[in-house]
Amino acid sequence: MLVLMILTLLSSMASSSYYRYANCAPFLYTCGGKKLSISYPFRVDGRPNYCGYPEYYLWCEEPSLIMIHINGKSYQVERVDYVNHLIDVVDGALLGCPLLTENASIASHLYGYSDRDRNATVFADCDAVPAELGEMVNCSSGAAGRRVYYYTLREGVSAGIRCNSTVLVPMHQKAADGLATGRLSFGEAVADGFSVSWTAGRGWCSDCVNSGGLCGFNSSSPTINSTCYCNYGSGSPTCSKGTCLIVFLL
Ligand SMILES: *[C@@H]1O[C@H](CO)[C@@H](O)[C@H](O)[C@H]1NC(C)=O
Ligand SMILES: *[C@@H]1O[C@H](CO)[C@@H](O)[C@H](O)[C@H]1NC(C)=O
Ligand SMILES: *[C@@H]1O[C@H](CO)[C@@H](O)[C@H](O)[C@H]1NC(C)=O
Ligand SMILES: *[C@@H]1O[C@H](CO)[C@@H](O)[C@H](O)[C@H]1NC(C)=O
Ligand SMILES: *[C@@H]1O[C@H](CO)[C@@H](O)[C@H](O)[C@H]1NC(C)=O
Ligand SMILES: *[C@@H]1O[C@H](CO)[C@@H](O)[C@H](O)[C@H]1NC(C)=O
Repeated sequence: MLVLMILTLLSSMASSSYYRYANCAPFLYTCGGKKLSISYPFRVDGRPNYCGYPEYYLWCEEPSLIMIHINGKSYQVERVDYVNHLIDVVDGALLGCPLLTENASIASHLYGYSDRDRNATVFADCDAVPAELGEMVNCSSGAAGRRVYYYTLREGVSAGIRCNSTVLVPMHQKAADGLATGRLSFGEAVADGFSVSWTAGRGWCSDCVNSGGLCGFNSSSPTINSTCYCNYGSGSPTCSKGTCLIVFLL
């Protein structure tokens, strides 16, 4: 009889699971052939707004690119590492033979560079042939035409006035190694992308998750950025495991 009561109690608790907790469970987002597991702080269409931040919105670009805006510029999202708070992104504008005119601009209150990456310094639009500047990339791509760049992985190299543009191109350390040994071309290293770390949830989200909760976003108080959804309701700042059950059993 007691067992039956406890079973009934447990099943009623499971079915009365907090709706925000239930609705914010990790979600497999599909964009053509590309799939990505979506959890806090990311937001996608088809999921409630209380699961993620408006600024960490991902969308699908046909046929199979998952995109995000970082400081107003769009990037392709390749992977998400929820443990280390990193997204691997590719700047599609750097593929092919672009006019390199802008540095990547990542750092903000939402994002930072990853210390796992390296910057390649790329010199473009050069008047003289600056042999000591680095390796030459002679690239071509249809309408964009043919361009010549020089890149170096060394730091503190300056082209002086010989080149009109100097830009820092972040890349994964592994890709930079591949570039240095000739295993990868410059274009391949750039196409491998780089990592960006996100700030949301830093310092509290892992505590929430470790207590059995799911991190969330409270649009009525967006500055309180430590919203933890638990099976039984909102936790602050973590879920108290099994409290309900103990209370009921007493
Ligand atoms: C990019 O950043 C480097 C280093 O800060 C700087 O020397 C260069 O002028 C910048 N390039 C552009 C196009 O702003
Ligand atoms: C790459 O350049 C950016 C912008 O100047 C800088 O903030 C970042 O720390 C650099 N990354 C590395 C690994 O040096
Ligand atoms: C560099 O810029 C100047 C001024 O825009 C231009 O006249 C020159 O042709 C450019 N150099 C190269 C190599 O494109
Ligand atoms: C780049 O490659 C093209 C075709 O292979 C060649 O005609 C051109 O001279 C090269 N440019 C440089 C600066 O080597
Ligand atoms: C979260 O809140 C902390 C402390 O109030 C603040 O420093 C941080 O910038 C906030 N992060 C975001 C993504 O809003
Ligand atoms: C959202 O914030 C409001 C105002 O601080 C608070 O009353 C409410 O309980 C919060 N909602 C959740 C789900 O945490």
